[in-house]
Amino acid sequence: MRELIRINQPNLGKEEIDLVVEVMRSGILTDKSGMGPRVLEFERSFAKYVGAKHAIAVASGTAALHAALLAAEVGLGDEVILPSFTFIGAANAVALTGATPMFADIDKDTYCLRLDSVEEALTRKTKAVIPTDMYGLPADLAAIGDFAREKGITVIEDAAQAHGAQFAGKRVGSIADMTCFSFYAGKNMTTGEGGMITTNDDDHAQSLRMIRSHGEQRPYWAVRLGHNYHMTELAAAIGQAQLKKLPSFLERRRRNAELATEKLSMSGKLILPREPEGRRHSWYLYTTRLRGVNAAKRNKIVDRLWSKNIEAGVYYSTPVHSTPLYRESSMARRGRLSETEKAARQVFSLPVHPKLSETDIEYVSETLRKTIA
Ligand SMILES: Cc1ncc(COP(=O)(O)O)c(C=O)c1O
Repeated sequence: MRELIRINQPNLGKEEIDLVVEVMRSGILTDKSGMGPRVLEFERSFAKYVGAKHAIAVASGTAALHAALLAAEVGLGDEVILPSFTFIGAANAVALTGATPMFADIDKDTYCLRLDSVEEALTRKTKAVIPTDMYGLPADLAAIGDFAREKGITVIEDAAQAHGAQFAGKRVGSIADMTCFSFYAGKNMTTGEGGMITTNDDDHAQSLRMIRSHGEQRPYWAVRLGHNYHMTELAAAIGQAQLKKLPSFLERRRRNAELATEKLSMSGKLILPREPEGRRHSWYLYTTRLRGVNAAKRNKIVDRLWSKNIEAGVYYSTPVHSTPLYRESSMARRGRLSETEKAARQVFSLPVHPKLSETDIEYVSETLRKTIA
Protein backbone atom coordinates (compact mmCIF):
# COMPACT_ATOMS: atom_id res chain seq x y z
CA MET A 1 0.00 0.00 0.00
CA ARG A 2 1.18 3.50 -0.86
CA GLU A 3 2.20 5.87 1.92
CA LEU A 4 -0.42 8.56 2.68
CA ILE A 5 0.06 11.63 0.47
CA ARG A 6 -0.50 14.44 2.94
CA ILE A 7 -2.31 17.64 1.92
CA ASN A 8 0.56 19.68 3.37
CA GLN A 9 3.43 18.91 5.70
CA PRO A 10 6.45 20.69 7.17
CA ASN A 11 9.60 20.48 5.09
CA LEU A 12 12.46 20.63 7.60
CA GLY A 13 16.15 19.80 7.29
CA LYS A 14 19.55 20.01 8.92
CA GLU A 15 19.59 23.82 8.66
CA GLU A 16 16.54 24.18 10.93
CA ILE A 17 17.91 21.60 13.40
CA ASP A 18 21.34 23.27 13.59
CA LEU A 19 19.86 26.73 14.19
CA VAL A 20 17.49 25.45 16.89
CA VAL A 21 20.37 23.68 18.65
CA GLU A 22 22.38 26.94 18.50
CA VAL A 23 19.51 28.82 20.17
CA MET A 24 19.21 26.17 22.88
CA ARG A 25 22.95 26.31 23.54
CA SER A 26 22.77 30.13 23.77
CA GLY A 27 20.19 29.85 26.55
CA ILE A 28 18.18 32.79 25.12
CA LEU A 29 14.74 31.29 24.46
CA THR A 30 12.75 34.51 24.27
CA ASP A 31 12.90 38.20 25.14
CA LYS A 32 10.73 40.23 27.50
CA SER A 33 9.73 42.61 24.67
CA GLY A 34 9.55 39.89 22.03
CA MET A 35 12.65 41.33 20.36
CA GLY A 36 15.40 38.76 20.88
CA PRO A 37 18.32 38.58 18.41
CA ARG A 38 16.83 35.74 16.31
CA VAL A 39 13.42 37.43 16.10
CA LEU A 40 15.01 40.71 14.95
CA GLU A 41 17.10 38.89 12.35
CA PHE A 42 14.06 36.97 11.05
CA GLU A 43 12.01 40.19 10.90
CA ARG A 44 14.72 41.97 8.88
CA SER A 45 15.01 39.09 6.40
CA PHE A 46 11.23 38.72 6.03
CA ALA A 47 10.69 42.47 5.47
CA LYS A 48 13.41 42.42 2.81
CA TYR A 49 11.92 39.35 1.11
CA VAL A 50 8.43 40.83 0.75
CA GLY A 51 9.71 44.35 0.07
CA ALA A 52 8.17 46.04 3.13
CA LYS A 53 9.68 48.62 5.44
CA HIS A 54 8.75 46.77 8.65
CA ALA A 55 8.04 43.20 9.76
CA ILE A 56 6.77 42.39 13.25
CA ALA A 57 6.94 38.74 14.35
CA VAL A 58 4.18 37.34 16.57
CA ALA A 59 2.96 34.07 18.04
CA SER A 60 0.50 33.04 15.29
CA GLY A 61 -1.38 34.21 12.20
CA THR A 62 -4.44 34.87 14.36
CA ALA A 63 -2.30 36.98 16.70
CA ALA A 64 -1.05 38.89 13.64
CA LEU A 65 -4.64 39.66 12.58
CA HIS A 66 -5.71 40.65 16.09
CA ALA A 67 -2.66 42.89 16.57
CA ALA A 68 -3.19 44.52 13.14
CA LEU A 69 -6.84 45.27 13.97
CA LEU A 70 -5.81 46.81 17.30
CA ALA A 71 -3.12 48.86 15.52
CA ALA A 72 -5.84 50.14 13.14
CA GLU A 73 -7.75 51.22 16.29
CA VAL A 74 -10.63 48.84 15.51
CA GLY A 75 -12.91 48.35 18.53
CA LEU A 76 -16.40 48.35 19.97
CA GLY A 77 -18.97 49.92 17.63
CA ASP A 78 -16.84 49.43 14.49
CA GLU A 79 -17.45 47.01 11.63
CA VAL A 80 -14.89 45.06 9.61
CA ILE A 81 -15.69 43.55 6.19
CA LEU A 82 -14.21 40.12 5.53
CA PRO A 83 -15.01 36.84 3.78
CA SER A 84 -16.96 34.06 5.48
CA PHE A 85 -15.33 31.58 3.09
CA THR A 86 -12.06 31.33 5.01
CA PHE A 87 -10.45 30.05 8.20
CA ILE A 88 -12.27 31.33 11.30
CA GLY A 89 -9.21 33.16 12.71
CA ALA A 90 -9.87 36.53 11.03
CA ALA A 91 -13.53 36.69 12.15
CA ASN A 92 -12.55 35.74 15.70
CA ALA A 93 -9.80 38.37 15.72
CA VAL A 94 -12.39 40.99 14.73
CA ALA A 95 -14.85 39.79 17.39
CA LEU A 96 -12.11 39.84 20.05
CA THR A 97 -11.60 43.57 19.44
CA GLY A 98 -15.30 44.13 20.21
CA ALA A 99 -16.03 45.09 16.58
CA THR A 100 -18.60 43.35 14.36
CA PRO A 101 -17.45 41.06 11.53
CA MET A 102 -19.45 41.86 8.37
CA PHE A 103 -19.27 38.93 5.97
CA ALA A 104 -19.06 39.65 2.23
CA ASP A 105 -19.17 37.25 -0.72
CA ILE A 106 -16.40 35.82 -2.89
CA ASP A 107 -15.61 35.64 -6.59
CA LYS A 108 -16.56 32.24 -8.03
CA ASP A 109 -13.26 31.76 -9.88
CA THR A 110 -10.67 33.09 -7.43
CA TYR A 111 -12.54 32.37 -4.13
CA CYS A 112 -11.32 35.80 -2.93
CA LEU A 113 -13.43 38.71 -1.66
CA ARG A 114 -15.51 40.42 -4.41
CA LEU A 115 -15.44 44.21 -4.68
CA ASP A 116 -19.17 44.68 -5.36
CA SER A 117 -20.00 42.64 -2.26
CA VAL A 118 -17.53 44.71 -0.20
CA GLU A 119 -19.22 47.88 -1.53
CA GLU A 120 -22.60 46.51 -0.50
CA ALA A 121 -21.36 45.72 3.01
CA LEU A 122 -19.96 49.19 3.65
CA THR A 123 -21.64 51.32 6.33
CA ARG A 124 -20.64 54.43 8.26
CA LYS A 125 -19.25 52.11 10.94
CA THR A 126 -16.83 50.27 8.60
CA LYS A 127 -13.27 50.72 9.86
CA ALA A 128 -11.35 48.06 7.97
CA VAL A 129 -11.55 45.37 5.28
CA ILE A 130 -9.71 42.03 5.34
CA PRO A 131 -9.12 40.60 1.84
CA THR A 132 -7.89 37.01 2.14
CA ASP A 133 -5.42 35.57 -0.38
CA MET A 134 -7.34 32.34 -0.65
CA TYR A 135 -5.37 29.12 -1.20
CA GLY A 136 -2.30 31.30 -1.89
CA LEU A 137 -3.81 33.46 -4.68
CA PRO A 138 -3.72 37.22 -3.95
CA ALA A 139 -7.12 38.90 -3.64
CA ASP A 140 -7.98 41.79 -5.96
CA LEU A 141 -5.72 44.13 -3.99
CA ALA A 142 -5.85 46.99 -6.51
CA ALA A 143 -9.63 47.27 -6.61
CA ILE A 144 -10.08 46.76 -2.87
CA GLY A 145 -7.15 49.08 -2.08
CA ASP A 146 -8.55 51.89 -4.26
CA PHE A 147 -12.00 51.51 -2.72
CA ALA A 148 -10.63 51.50 0.84
CA ARG A 149 -8.48 54.57 0.21
CA GLU A 150 -11.47 56.43 -1.19
CA LYS A 151 -13.59 55.52 1.85
CA GLY A 152 -10.81 56.04 4.42
CA ILE A 153 -10.78 52.48 5.73
CA THR A 154 -7.74 50.31 6.53
CA VAL A 155 -6.80 47.27 4.42
CA ILE A 156 -5.51 44.36 6.52
CA GLU A 157 -4.59 41.62 4.08
CA ASP A 158 -4.83 38.03 5.29
CA ALA A 159 -1.87 36.41 3.53
CA ALA A 160 -1.70 33.48 5.97
CA GLN A 161 -1.61 31.13 2.97
CA ALA A 162 0.27 33.32 0.51
CA HIS A 163 3.97 33.73 1.38
CA GLY A 164 5.74 34.73 -1.81
CA ALA A 165 2.57 35.32 -3.87
CA GLN A 166 2.59 38.40 -6.11
CA PHE A 167 0.16 41.04 -7.29
CA ALA A 168 1.10 43.32 -10.22
CA GLY A 169 4.75 42.32 -9.88
CA LYS A 170 4.97 43.04 -6.14
CA ARG A 171 5.10 40.47 -3.36
CA VAL A 172 2.15 40.41 -0.97
CA GLY A 173 3.26 42.04 2.24
CA SER A 174 4.36 45.22 0.48
CA ILE A 175 0.95 46.32 -0.83
CA ALA A 176 -1.81 46.58 1.81
CA ASP A 177 -1.73 48.89 4.87
CA MET A 178 -0.83 45.81 6.92
CA THR A 179 -0.38 42.20 5.77
CA CYS A 180 -0.67 39.19 8.08
CA PHE A 181 1.12 35.88 7.59
CA SER A 182 0.89 32.53 9.40
CA PHE A 183 3.75 30.10 9.98
CA TYR A 184 1.55 27.24 11.19
CA ALA A 185 3.08 23.80 10.53
CA GLY A 186 1.26 23.12 7.25
CA LYS A 187 1.90 26.51 5.65
CA ASN A 188 4.25 27.30 2.73
CA MET A 189 6.91 28.02 5.35
CA THR A 190 6.67 27.26 9.06
CA THR A 191 7.91 28.00 12.55
CA GLY A 192 5.56 25.40 14.13
CA GLU A 193 3.20 28.15 15.28
CA GLY A 194 3.96 31.75 14.40
CA GLY A 195 2.94 34.83 12.49
CA MET A 196 4.20 38.10 11.00
CA ILE A 197 2.72 41.48 10.15
CA THR A 198 4.39 43.59 7.47
CA THR A 199 3.74 47.27 6.83
CA ASN A 200 5.30 50.34 5.23
CA ASP A 201 3.71 52.61 7.84
CA ASP A 202 5.99 53.70 10.72
CA ASP A 203 3.09 54.44 13.11
CA HIS A 204 1.46 51.06 12.53
CA ALA A 205 4.85 49.35 13.06
CA GLN A 206 5.41 51.18 16.33
CA SER A 207 1.90 50.29 17.55
CA LEU A 208 2.33 46.63 16.54
CA ARG A 209 5.62 46.31 18.47
CA MET A 210 3.88 47.59 21.59
CA ILE A 211 0.70 45.53 21.10
CA ARG A 212 2.67 42.25 20.92
CA SER A 213 4.12 43.02 24.34
CA HIS A 214 1.18 44.17 26.51
CA GLY A 215 1.18 47.66 25.04
CA GLU A 216 4.52 48.42 26.67
CA GLN A 217 6.58 51.28 25.28
CA ARG A 218 9.49 49.92 27.31
CA PRO A 219 9.54 47.07 29.86
CA TYR A 220 6.87 47.58 32.55
CA TRP A 221 5.66 50.84 30.98
CA ALA A 222 2.29 50.11 29.28
CA VAL A 223 0.76 52.93 27.25
CA ARG A 224 -1.99 50.99 25.44
CA LEU A 225 -3.80 47.66 25.60
CA GLY A 226 -1.93 44.67 24.17
CA HIS A 227 -1.27 40.99 24.61
CA ASN A 228 1.64 38.58 24.95
CA TYR A 229 2.12 37.80 21.27
CA HIS A 230 5.90 37.24 21.37
CA MET A 231 7.51 34.86 18.90
CA THR A 232 10.08 32.65 20.64
CA GLU A 233 13.74 32.62 19.61
CA LEU A 234 13.39 28.93 18.69
CA ALA A 235 10.54 29.70 16.31
CA ALA A 236 12.44 32.60 14.73
CA ALA A 237 15.47 30.37 14.13
CA ILE A 238 13.30 27.84 12.28
CA GLY A 239 11.70 30.69 10.33
CA GLN A 240 15.07 32.07 9.26
CA ALA A 241 16.08 28.70 7.77
CA GLN A 242 12.65 28.21 6.16
CA LEU A 243 12.67 31.67 4.56
CA LYS A 244 15.93 30.83 2.75
CA LYS A 245 14.24 27.74 1.31
CA LEU A 246 10.92 29.43 0.47
CA PRO A 247 11.82 30.28 -3.17
CA SER A 248 12.68 26.64 -3.90
CA PHE A 249 9.54 25.43 -2.06
CA LEU A 250 7.41 27.78 -4.18
CA GLU A 251 9.07 26.66 -7.39
CA ARG A 252 8.25 23.02 -6.60
CA ARG A 253 4.67 23.89 -5.62
CA ARG A 254 4.29 25.70 -8.97
CA ARG A 255 5.75 22.78 -10.92
CA ASN A 256 3.39 20.36 -9.14
CA ALA A 257 0.37 22.62 -9.72
CA GLU A 258 1.19 22.96 -13.41
CA LEU A 259 1.57 19.22 -13.76
CA ALA A 260 -1.77 18.65 -12.00
CA THR A 261 -3.44 21.10 -14.40
CA GLU A 262 -1.88 19.34 -17.38
CA LYS A 263 -3.11 15.95 -16.19
CA LEU A 264 -6.58 17.04 -15.03
CA SER A 265 -7.59 19.39 -17.83
CA MET A 266 -8.15 16.31 -20.03
CA SER A 267 -11.09 15.29 -17.88
CA GLY A 268 -13.19 18.34 -18.86
CA LYS A 269 -15.46 17.82 -15.83
CA LEU A 270 -13.42 19.76 -13.34
CA ILE A 271 -13.08 23.50 -12.83
CA LEU A 272 -9.37 23.94 -12.24
CA PRO A 273 -7.62 26.81 -10.41
CA ARG A 274 -6.22 29.58 -12.60
CA GLU A 275 -3.99 32.62 -12.12
CA PRO A 276 -5.75 35.78 -13.28
CA GLU A 277 -3.60 38.25 -15.27
CA GLY A 278 -1.12 40.03 -12.99
CA ARG A 279 -1.44 37.64 -10.05
CA ARG A 280 1.09 34.99 -9.06
CA HIS A 281 -0.19 32.09 -6.97
CA SER A 282 1.86 30.60 -4.14
CA TRP A 283 -0.03 27.28 -4.50
CA TYR A 284 -0.65 26.59 -0.81
CA LEU A 285 -3.55 24.43 -2.00
CA TYR A 286 -4.63 23.24 -5.45
CA THR A 287 -8.38 23.72 -5.24
CA THR A 288 -10.78 22.35 -7.78
CA ARG A 289 -14.54 21.83 -8.10
CA LEU A 290 -16.83 19.58 -10.07
CA ARG A 291 -19.51 21.33 -12.12
CA GLY A 292 -22.98 21.19 -10.55
CA VAL A 293 -21.97 18.82 -7.75
CA ASN A 294 -23.64 18.86 -4.29
CA ALA A 295 -21.87 18.43 -0.93
CA ALA A 296 -22.75 14.72 -0.61
CA LYS A 297 -21.28 13.88 -4.04
CA ARG A 298 -18.20 16.04 -3.40
CA ASN A 299 -17.66 14.35 -0.03
CA LYS A 300 -17.89 10.94 -1.70
CA ILE A 301 -15.11 11.91 -4.11
CA VAL A 302 -12.97 13.11 -1.21
CA ASP A 303 -13.64 9.86 0.72
CA ARG A 304 -12.66 7.86 -2.34
CA LEU A 305 -9.36 9.75 -2.62
CA TRP A 306 -8.73 9.12 1.06
CA SER A 307 -9.33 5.40 0.52
CA LYS A 308 -6.52 5.56 -2.05
CA ASN A 309 -4.21 7.22 0.49
CA ILE A 310 -4.58 10.73 -0.89
CA GLU A 311 -5.34 13.32 1.76
CA ALA A 312 -7.70 15.57 -0.21
CA GLY A 313 -9.17 18.36 1.92
CA VAL A 314 -12.25 20.55 1.93
CA TYR A 315 -11.38 24.14 2.74
CA TYR A 316 -14.00 25.23 3.81
CA SER A 317 -17.09 23.03 4.07
CA THR A 318 -18.60 25.24 6.78
CA PRO A 319 -18.26 28.94 6.01
CA VAL A 320 -17.67 30.99 9.17
CA HIS A 321 -21.20 32.48 9.20
CA SER A 322 -22.64 28.92 9.32
CA THR A 323 -20.60 27.70 12.31
CA PRO A 324 -22.67 27.31 15.51
CA LEU A 325 -20.68 30.17 17.08
CA TYR A 326 -21.66 32.73 14.44
CA ARG A 327 -24.97 31.25 13.30
CA GLU A 328 -26.52 31.34 16.73
CA SER A 329 -25.32 34.73 17.88
CA SER A 330 -25.65 38.35 16.85
CA MET A 331 -21.86 38.74 16.94
CA ALA A 332 -21.63 39.20 13.15
CA ARG A 333 -23.65 40.54 10.22
CA ARG A 334 -23.74 39.27 6.66
CA GLY A 335 -24.63 40.25 3.13
CA ARG A 336 -25.76 37.84 0.41
CA LEU A 337 -23.32 34.93 0.37
CA SER A 338 -24.51 32.76 -2.52
CA GLU A 339 -21.05 32.12 -4.03
CA THR A 340 -19.67 31.36 -0.55
CA GLU A 341 -22.35 28.75 0.04
CA LYS A 342 -21.94 27.23 -3.40
CA ALA A 343 -18.17 26.97 -3.06
CA ALA A 344 -18.54 25.38 0.40
CA ARG A 345 -20.60 22.60 -1.23
CA GLN A 346 -18.37 22.04 -4.25
CA VAL A 347 -14.66 22.67 -3.66
CA PHE A 348 -11.98 20.22 -2.66
CA SER A 349 -8.22 20.65 -2.55
CA LEU A 350 -5.41 18.41 -3.70
CA PRO A 351 -1.84 18.24 -2.38
CA VAL A 352 0.91 19.99 -4.36
CA HIS A 353 3.45 20.52 -1.55
CA PRO A 354 7.18 20.46 -2.31
CA LYS A 355 7.85 16.99 -0.91
CA LEU A 356 5.72 15.44 -3.67
CA SER A 357 7.34 14.02 -6.77
CA GLU A 358 6.09 14.04 -10.34
CA THR A 359 4.98 10.42 -9.81
CA ASP A 360 2.93 11.43 -6.75
CA ILE A 361 1.14 14.16 -8.70
CA GLU A 362 0.49 11.77 -11.59
CA TYR A 363 -0.95 9.24 -9.12
CA VAL A 364 -3.21 11.86 -7.49
CA SER A 365 -4.43 13.17 -10.87
CA GLU A 366 -4.99 9.71 -12.33
CA THR A 367 -6.89 8.54 -9.23
CA LEU A 368 -9.13 11.61 -9.32
CA ARG A 369 -9.81 11.19 -13.04
CA LYS A 370 -10.86 7.58 -12.50
CA THR A 371 -13.02 8.59 -9.52
CA ILE A 372 -15.06 11.13 -11.48
CA ALA A 373 -15.15 9.25 -14.79
C1 LIG B 1 -6.61 32.28 5.76
C2 LIG B 1 -6.08 32.10 7.15
N1 LIG B 1 -6.18 33.10 8.04
C3 LIG B 1 -5.69 33.00 9.28
C4 LIG B 1 -5.07 31.86 9.72
C5 LIG B 1 -4.62 31.78 11.14
O1 LIG B 1 -3.29 31.48 11.30
P1 LIG B 1 -2.78 30.67 12.60
O2 LIG B 1 -3.27 29.29 12.49
O3 LIG B 1 -1.28 30.79 12.51
O4 LIG B 1 -3.31 31.39 13.80
C6 LIG B 1 -4.92 30.78 8.83
C7 LIG B 1 -4.21 29.53 9.16
O5 LIG B 1 -4.45 28.68 9.89
C8 LIG B 1 -5.46 30.89 7.52
O6 LIG B 1 -5.37 29.88 6.65
